[in-house]
Amino acid sequence: MTDDQKTTHFGFQTVNEAEKAGMVHGVFTRVASKYDVMNDAMSLGIHRIWKDAMMDWLAPRPGTKLLDVAGGTGDVSFRYLKRAPGAHATVLDMTESMLVEGRQRAEADSMADRLDWVVGDAMALPFKANTFDVYTISFGIRNVTRVQDALNEAFRVLRPGGRLMVLEFSQIPNDLMQKAYDLYSFNLIPVMGQVIAGDRDSYQYLVESIRKFPDQETFAGMIRQAGFGQVKYRNLTMGIAALHSGWKI
Ligand SMILES: C[S@@+](CC[C@H](N)C(=O)[O-])C[C@H]1O[C@@H](n2cnc3c(N)ncnc32)[C@H](O)[C@@H]1O
Repeated sequence: MTDDQKTTHFGFQTVNEAEKAGMVHGVFTRVASKYDVMNDAMSLGIHRIWKDAMMDWLAPRPGTKLLDVAGGTGDVSFRYLKRAPGAHATVLDMTESMLVEGRQRAEADSMADRLDWVVGDAMALPFKANTFDVYTISFGIRNVTRVQDALNEAFRVLRPGGRLMVLEFSQIPNDLMQKAYDLYSFNLIPVMGQVIAGDRDSYQYLVESIRKFPDQETFAGMIRQAGFGQVKYRNLTMGIAALHSGWKI
């Protein structure tokens, strides 16, 4: 099978691999201006607690170099820089409109000399091997066409001793809770997308993409396959989201 015949998923649709990135780019270009307000509305502000939990586990160190892939409007990088004096963050994202929104945030101004904003693809990072101390990707990796390629790239650009941390929606181990969560997400989130962002379809894609993402153990296996050691995960809010950590050792 040639590359242009391979298929993948875009939410619950099956699409050619070659088409997916363009479709994901379309989603985030459309929602960029409402992205931050929708995050608070959909999660009732809980995404902030999850991102803080990410920082607690990561424990950012002064003077380190962070690469925040699929960094969007900068939430993770801002948190990292606030906790690590003298650190530097590179926010990379394939959707320029998301980066443009991030650069307009008040935090971006006050941290401008410690931040870079780069348009690029998680599967082909425009950086040399062994460059960064920390690699983060928050609610980004489930949108990437070939997740394993992105993890392999994370391993390549981290320096030896560097750390990967992924924050992503995950699977709730309890069936009843999963059903309740599905009811909420499939019925309410697309409607909120329509009302707040004027875009139901993009938020329908977002909830479907959550269901297609591998469970905690399977994803931990993919991180190990990329070469990472000491791979561990922590569930957040009963597994609605999870943090995965690995080291380049
Ligand atoms: C849900 S947003 C997450 C933004 C931010 N990290 C956060 O936690 O709020 C997902 C982001 O992933 C980006 N993205 C998706 N696929 C990508 C890829 N292959 N390379 C780089 N960025 C990608 C999208 O453009 C979008 O900005």
